[in-house]
Amino acid sequence: MSVTEVVDPATLAGRVADLAAQIAADYQGRQPVLLGVLKGAVPFLADLSRGMGPRVDIDFLGLTRFGTEGRVGIAMDSATSIAGRHVLLVEDIVDTGLTLSYLLGLLQTREPASLATATLLDKRTRRIVDVPLEYRGFEIGDEFLIGYGLDWDGRFRNLPGLWAILDLAEFQDDPSGLAHVVFGERGDRVAP
Ligand code: IMP
Repeated sequence: MSVTEVVDPATLAGRVADLAAQIAADYQGRQPVLLGVLKGAVPFLADLSRGMGPRVDIDFLGLTRFGTEGRVGIAMDSATSIAGRHVLLVEDIVDTGLTLSYLLGLLQTREPASLATATLLDKRTRRIVDVPLEYRGFEIGDEFLIGYGLDWDGRFRNLPGLWAILDLAEFQDDPSGLAHVVFGERGDRVAP
């Protein structure tokens, strides 16, 4: 099999609950804005926010990527005015750091009261730009991961656990095989 589960759903839930408790304690007496980066941060933000109690605002922004050097721009901006607010940027994964570096620079120009980052995953050894990470779920190697928000070619964001693609060539030959492994009989009904 060219994929293997590296973090199961129960372990994810436990780690995210721990992070949520830590963040809730750190932001006690304040009402932070959780700003999720679409689409990968959706499951993480949903679980994180539900672990944080009622005083939380939620918004999202979407990015567009162009060129080969990891350049990014805003495709869909958030609607929340963050001036004077305590903003927690929520990311699925920080790899080179280029995306996060761009976003932090942009958000700072909007003059939030504070700005911090929570990422589920940190590929620290691949960093090109040094970026501050106040909260992170797991540090990982440079394997390509899918599930719990992370995609391969737009697919598999809805896997409940995190899976590593061990052999990309083999995986590309039969990506639906994974759906079968994870979802059993229901995997058969996944359209190509
Ligand atoms: P960075 O700008 O290099 O830090 O890129 C971060 C983005 O790269 C993430 O938001 C993901 O879209 C993508 N990415 C990096 N590693 C992975 C992975 O293992 N699986 C899925 N997407 C990834």
